[in-house]
Amino acid sequence: MKPLPIIIDTDPGQDDAIALLLAAASPELELLGVTTVAGNVPLALTTLNARKVLELAGRRDVPICAGADRPLDVPLVTAEHVHGDTGLNGVELPEPTLALDPRHAVAFIVQTLREREAGTVTLCPLGPLTNIALALRQAPDIAARIRRIVLMGGGFFEGGNVTPSAEFNIYVDPQAAHEVFTSGVPITMAPLDVTHEALTTAARIEAIRALGNRVGGVVAAWMEFFERFDEQKYGQDGGPLHDPCVIAWLLRPELFTGRDCNVRVETLSELTRGMTVIDWWSVTGLPVNAQVLRHVDADGFFGLLTERLSALQ
Ligand code: BDR
Ligand code: CA
Repeated sequence: MKPLPIIIDTDPGQDDAIALLLAAASPELELLGVTTVAGNVPLALTTLNARKVLELAGRRDVPICAGADRPLDVPLVTAEHVHGDTGLNGVELPEPTLALDPRHAVAFIVQTLREREAGTVTLCPLGPLTNIALALRQAPDIAARIRRIVLMGGGFFEGGNVTPSAEFNIYVDPQAAHEVFTSGVPITMAPLDVTHEALTTAARIEAIRALGNRVGGVVAAWMEFFERFDEQKYGQDGGPLHDPCVIAWLLRPELFTGRDCNVRVETLSELTRGMTVIDWWSVTGLPVNAQVLRHVDADGFFGLLTERLSALQ
């Protein structure tokens, strides 16, 4: 089968970095490019981190384009308290030699979607949806050309992780999320409800470290840094490994269960800004605009991740 062409839009972040490694190591996927956005840390750092991670993956062939340095119409909120001051704390990676592509992320997304056959390219946003909304604003014709948007964001049964009602990626740029969810593009959404089942337990981290390769050691160190905040917050063994769920769904959708729903994003209320209102029980009669993932076979997910990481250096 021909590999599935994807663009990953990301704000690395340890879990973004692990998602990038999973994609880079998977022959079923054709990684057309990586675009960066401000989110977990400011844009300069998310872009530097993306370059470090692709270099670690040995994927110098993949263009990396920097995108929006702030949300559409609210000030940027970052998450150094979770990811550390560099966004990738836990292990020191060398300064990358891999050059940044001169194109803006939005221009790259638009150009790629127009050049490629319509309906073939999947967008994988792992951070705030600013670049995707800007691309749709700038070039509305691309909406009909996107095969699917598979994103990490939102939450409903689990509530929020940055406010009681909002998940970080949607909270940071709720207007962008609103524009994406009303764009008519088919969406698969991995909210906290599913990612909170993908826990980096001590045994799973040990299995990755035991791979014995360089990447295994780096990923284990990232996981140990990244999980400490959530372990304390939720009082459990391991933190949720959010963003790799997006890539795992592309590779092995049968590991997940979910439901087609109407999803709306709160943009106005101060109390519930960035809440994803998921009509799980179809009480509104509003049309379906997203496939919402709810559960994951966590052992299957970590088995897949561990196996793929073993193929890297
Ligand atoms: C999301 O926010 C970021 O901290 C993670 O990288 C993930 O994309 C989880 O809420
Ligand atoms: Ca992210």
